[in-house]
Amino acid sequence: MPGRQAGGGERGSWRRVLRSEALPEGAGRGVQVFDGTRALELALFRTGAGLFAIENVCPHQGAPLHDGRLEGTLLRCRWHGWPFDLRTGRPPVGAFPCVRTFAVEERDGWIRVRLDAGDEERRG
Ligand code: FES
Repeated sequence: MPGRQAGGGERGSWRRVLRSEALPEGAGRGVQVFDGTRALELALFRTGAGLFAIENVCPHQGAPLHDGRLEGTLLRCRWHGWPFDLRTGRPPVGAFPCVRTFAVEERDGWIRVRLDAGDEERRG
């Protein structure tokens, strides 16, 4: 499956984050990715529409998003139900804040996520 392009340009590096068999369809998993100095918390999902990777922190009150409720490509946070479209990180309607999305692909039995070159500066 080709990688999803999200979160910036072509610069950056791909990181193996999870074995493919650890993410069945309809499931979410939380992973940590080290960029050399810090850990980034990511939530991975496999849906009928493919793989998705987003930041694993709800902008409302910080719930981990990987155990939210999936409705197709819509994710609802487990704590208070804020909705996020996994394809864009945006809510489908309304004025809820966004979550960051990441390019993701599957290769050689691994799920890989691309970290942009500017990740460190953005997280400041
Ligand atoms: S913490 Fe996610 S909706 Fe409240």
